[in-house]
Amino acid sequence: MGANKTKLILLGAPGAGKGTLAKMIQAELGFVHLSTGDMLREAVKEGTELGKKAAGYMNEGKLVPDDIVIGILGERLLAEDCEKGFVLDGFPRTRKQAVALEDILRGERMSLDLVLNLETPEEVLIQRLSGRTQCESCGAIYHEENIPSRDPGVCDKCGGKLYQREDDRKEAIEVRLRAYREETAELIDFYSEDGLLKSVDSGKDVETAFKQIAAGLKDG
Ligand code: AP5
Repeated sequence: MGANKTKLILLGAPGAGKGTLAKMIQAELGFVHLSTGDMLREAVKEGTELGKKAAGYMNEGKLVPDDIVIGILGERLLAEDCEKGFVLDGFPRTRKQAVALEDILRGERMSLDLVLNLETPEEVLIQRLSGRTQCESCGAIYHEENIPSRDPGVCDKCGGKLYQREDDRKEAIEVRLRAYREETAELIDFYSEDGLLKSVDSGKDVETAFKQIAAGLKDG
C-alpha cells in the first residue's frame, strides 16, 4: 500500500481503536508507531523516576501532566526513524500538547499531513475497554469477545501472557472518558480549522476502519 501522507495523528476516545489501527499502519507502511501510553507504561514497568511520577495518574485514569508527556514525546520525535513517517497514538491530548507538537515539528522542518478522528459510540468504547487484553511481551492487543486470541490468555504472535490493564477497571474507564470529553475532544475543532481533519467510522470492524484510513492516506 503506498501513501502520500506520512505524518499523522490518530485522535479518538479511549477504546476507539487507536493502538490497534496504529499497529496495522506500522506493519503495512513502516511508519513509526508513537504511543505515549505505551511509553509511560514502559516507564512505570521499569520503575524510572518518570514512571513513578506517572503511575498514580494513569491508574486513576487521569491525564499525566502536559510537561512530562511533551518531554518524552518531544525527545522521541527527534529520532531519525521518524523522518520517514510516524503515527501518533494518544498524543496530543490537550491544546497545550497540540501547540507544543507544532513547535517541535517546526523546529525539525516537519509538519503534520493528516489527523484521523476515530468516531466510536460511547457504549462501544465501554464494551471494548472492559474486555481488552494485551500481551505483556510484544504489546499485541486482543479483546475477549471481539478479537480473541486462539488460546485464552496466550498471545498468538509470540506466546506471551495476556494481561488486563490496570486502568480498564470500571471507575478508571469513567474518569478516562470524562478526561477525553473535557480535555481532548476540543482538538477536533483545533485540527478542523487547520483543514487537517478526516473522520473515520471506528465503531464497526477493524478492517472497515483500516480501509478508510488507507484511502485517506492516499488522497490529495
Ligand atoms: P493510552 O494508552 O493512550 O490509552 P487511551 O487513549 O485511553 O486509549 P486506549 O489504549 O485505552 O484505547 P485505544 O484507542 O488505543 O484502543 P485499542 O486499540 O486498545 O493512555 C493511557 C493513560 O496514559 C492515560 O489515561 C493517561 O493517564 C496517560 N497518557 C497517555 N498519553 C497521554 C498524553 N498525551 N497526555 C496525558 N496523559 C497521557 O482497542 C480497545 C479494545 O477494543 C481492544 O480490546 C481491541 O482489541 C478492541 N477493538 C479495537 N478496534 C476494534 C474494532 N474495530 N472492533 C472490535 N473491537 C475492537
